[in-house]
Amino acid sequence: MKMNIRWPLMKNNITRKDLEKVISFLKGAPRLTQADNVKAFEMEWSEWLGVEYSVFVNSGSSANFISISVINHLYDTGDIIVPTLTWVSDIASVIQNGFNPVFVDINPRNLCMNDEMIIAKLNKQTRAVFLTHAQGFNGLTDRLLDTLKEKNIPLVEDVCESHGATFKGKKLGSFGLISNFSFYFAHHMSTIEGGMICTNNKDVYEIARMLRSHGMVREVEDYSIKESYIKNNSDLNPDFIFAFPGYNMRNTEIGAVLGRSQLERLDENNEKRRKNFEIFLKHLDSEKFRTDFDLEGSCNYALNIIIRKPDPVLRNRLERVFIENGIEFRRGSSGGGNQLRQPYLKGIIPDQEWQNYPETEHVHFFGYYIGNYSDCDEQEIIKLCKLLNNL
Ligand SMILES: Cc1ncc(COP(=O)(O)O)c(C=O)c1O
Repeated sequence: MKMNIRWPLMKNNITRKDLEKVISFLKGAPRLTQADNVKAFEMEWSEWLGVEYSVFVNSGSSANFISISVINHLYDTGDIIVPTLTWVSDIASVIQNGFNPVFVDINPRNLCMNDEMIIAKLNKQTRAVFLTHAQGFNGLTDRLLDTLKEKNIPLVEDVCESHGATFKGKKLGSFGLISNFSFYFAHHMSTIEGGMICTNNKDVYEIARMLRSHGMVREVEDYSIKESYIKNNSDLNPDFIFAFPGYNMRNTEIGAVLGRSQLERLDENNEKRRKNFEIFLKHLDSEKFRTDFDLEGSCNYALNIIIRKPDPVLRNRLERVFIENGIEFRRGSSGGGNQLRQPYLKGIIPDQEWQNYPETEHVHFFGYYIGNYSDCDEQEIIKLCKLLNNL
């Protein structure tokens, strides 16, 4: 059956209205590097999320890298618990900051780390849990939050795929010591490239600000911190004191103007995405595909299509139908599937380690996502389900 649905990964995520705002901003001949709009976007984002501080950076990966660097500066080196199903930068940031990644398999109902398995892996070496709220699903449980609190282990939330999703009515990204967002194309909103680091902790905020700008002390907002560096380094020009070996991960005023414009309609768009996903799951054949996701608080920029049984014939038919009908898809779901199969981890983890994570393995070979944008039409979603159900 050919329906010619034509379904791109994302549509219309930077609108004419957003661009008009950029154009009118440019007419004033403004400064384009990080300035007032970046500051305003950070404050508006903090308010939207319900946290004290936010730091706007040039990507979600930069947010990951800076966050794990902050953990490195505040705690000893050791282990960080990470998912097998996530984006490469979640693991790369851990390795590049000198920590050992300790992997955990996913819960098939939310594609996030299985909370019991996280708890089972906590020990004296654990410096943090770096949890990805995959594909709009909430990965938190009371049991996990209580255990981390009791053991005094920081939580870093990667919310790059889940803007606006909640746990018990509170936004994801407001629970951990630090949280990360991405504003890359095909996410809930886009600043062309961009990311955000969020926290309620002033020390984390100040270190993240320095790390974003070469590790420079002049980025700090708290004057007493600045004063103490200047006093202890009297041989240095106060404008050029590098507290940390940092990089430049700043964003621009254009990114911030886009972000501020998009934030105004994020909640409304997310509501539409929630509805789309519900309609999709209601009409999808639950014998063929998984439809039993834990939807409580979820907000998905993707429609997840996970074949229920490991059936390579059905999978090949599915891919053919995607291609024939112009449906853009990603196999392996978040980050292309099982990170443990990736060449960059060779020599870091034991050979064939991937086989110990069966839930991620299933998604790696039989899990897909396609776009879920705010202007998806109900009839189009039903048509898409019919196409998939008829495979
Ligand atoms: C879970 C997760 N973390 C981090 C990132 C990195 O974000 P960016 O592409 O903005 O660097 C992504 C990217 O898609 C992601 O899905």
